[in-house]
Amino acid sequence: MNTDTRIGLIGLGTMGAALALNIAEKGFPIAVWNRTAEVTRRFHAEAGALAERVVPTESLADLVAAIAPPRAIILMVPAGQAVDDQIAALAPLLGPDDLVIDAGNANFHDTDRRASAGLPMRFLGMGVSGGEEGARHGPAIMGGGARADWDRVAPVMQAIAARAEDGTPCATWMGEAGAGHFVKTVHNGIEYADMQMIAEVYGLMRDGLGLPAAAIAETFAGWNGGALKSYLVEISAAVAGAADPLTGQPMLDVILDAAGQKGTGRWTAIEAQHLAAPIPVIEAAVAARNVSARLAERKAGEARFGAAPQALDLALGQLEQALIAGKILCYAQGFAMIEAAGRAFGWQLDLPGIARVWRAGCIIRSAMLNDMATALAEDPSRNLALAPFFAERLEAAMPALRAVVAQGIMAGHAMPALASGLGWFDMMRTGRGTANMIQAQRDFFGAHGFDRLDGQDRHHGPWGKPG
Ligand code: 6PG
Repeated sequence: MNTDTRIGLIGLGTMGAALALNIAEKGFPIAVWNRTAEVTRRFHAEAGALAERVVPTESLADLVAAIAPPRAIILMVPAGQAVDDQIAALAPLLGPDDLVIDAGNANFHDTDRRASAGLPMRFLGMGVSGGEEGARHGPAIMGGGARADWDRVAPVMQAIAARAEDGTPCATWMGEAGAGHFVKTVHNGIEYADMQMIAEVYGLMRDGLGLPAAAIAETFAGWNGGALKSYLVEISAAVAGAADPLTGQPMLDVILDAAGQKGTGRWTAIEAQHLAAPIPVIEAAVAARNVSARLAERKAGEARFGAAPQALDLALGQLEQALIAGKILCYAQGFAMIEAAGRAFGWQLDLPGIARVWRAGCIIRSAMLNDMATALAEDPSRNLALAPFFAERLEAAMPALRAVVAQGIMAGHAMPALASGLGWFDMMRTGRGTANMIQAQRDFFGAHGFDRLDGQDRHHGPWGKPG
C-alpha cells in the first residue's frame, strides 16, 4: 500500500475514467477498480504519464488494501441498484471512518435513504456535471452529506473542479444527505428546458424562416457573443455547423428527431409537483422529449392533420430576445424550486452559491449566472424575475417573446417551452387572476369553502343544487 493513496474510484466507464485521470493529473494518487479487469488494465496502460499515479486493482479487496485509511472511494456506476450493490459489497471491507462517495446521477431520494440507512461507513452523494470533457478537465461539483465528510475531500474536489473566471473552484457542499444530488437534478431540469428552448428557436429558423443549417450555426455563434453566451448556445452553433462525414449533408439534417433521456429531468418535474413549485418551462421540456420519442404517433398525426409549420415574418433579433427571456424564466423557476426544497427538506441551500457553482464546468454554465448570483444574494427568497436587474431585462425582452410565441403559434410551430414561459410570466404579473372561478367551483361541488376579497375566511357560496 502506498500511504499517499487516500482515494479510490470504482467504475471506469467514460465518466469514471475521465474523473480518475483528472484526479491523478491534479497530483492525487488514485486506486481504481472496474468489474471487468480488462477495462482496468487497458485504462492503466492508456494513462500515459499519469499511469504512475494510478494503482490498478483487480478485486474490491485489493482496491481497499491499496488505499490508506481513512479511505475515500468514489462510485461512478449507473444510478440505482448498482450503487446499492456496490455499497453492500464494500461494507464488509471498510471501516467506520472510510467514506463512499456516490458521484453518479442518483435520485436524491435514494441518496437520502442511503445517508440515513446506518451504513457501516461514511457516505456522500455528489452531483457531477460537465459530461466527459468536464469530468476530465474540470466539472462542476455539488456535494451533499455531512459537512465534515465533505471537508475531508474538498481539497481534491476543488482541485479537480472547473474554475470560474474569478478563479473560484466550482465545487461546493450544498447541504445534508441528498442536497447535492437534488441540486444536480434541478440543474438537469434547467438543462432540459434550455436545450428545448434552443431547439424550438432552431425550429423557427429552419421551418419558419427557411434558414439552412450553416446560417443557423452562424446565428447561434453570433448570439454566443452576447447576453446568451453559454455552453449550450456554443455547442448548438457547433452542431448546426457540422457536416455528416457519410453524406456531406449538415449533421442536424441526418439526425433522427426523437430525444433520449435518462430520467433526471423527469425527476425534477415530479419533485416540483410534490413541492407545489411551479416550473412549467422545465415540465414542458420534459413533456416535449416524451412527445418527440413517439415517432409513429407523430407521423400518423402529420398524415391526418398535415404538417403544420408555416413561414414566419420574424427578425433574428426577436428570436434572440425571446431566448433571453425564456432563459431567465427557466432559471428563475429552477432557483425558486430549489428555494422551496430548502424550506421543505430543512436544507440551508445557498442560492447565490449554487449560481456560482454553475458558472463553469457544468452543462448549464452561462454568462448570466454571475448576475444571477448577485441578484440571489440580494434576496434569495425573491423570485429572480423580480430582481431589479432581471426585471429590467425581462421588460426589454418580453415583447419579443410575446411576438415570437404569438406568431409561431398562429403559424403552427410547436414551441411548448417558450409558450409555457410566457404563460407563467403573464400569471406571475397578474395580481387578480382567475382562480376565484376554481374556488367557486370547488365550493359548489365539494363545499371546500373560499376566502373572500374583503378578508373574511372560509365562506360558502349561495349555490343552489345543480339541476
Ligand atoms: C451533466 C449532464 C449529465 C446527463 C446527460 C444526459 O450535467 O453533465 O446533465 O449528467 O447525464 O446530460 O442526460 P439525459 O440522458 O437525461 O439527457
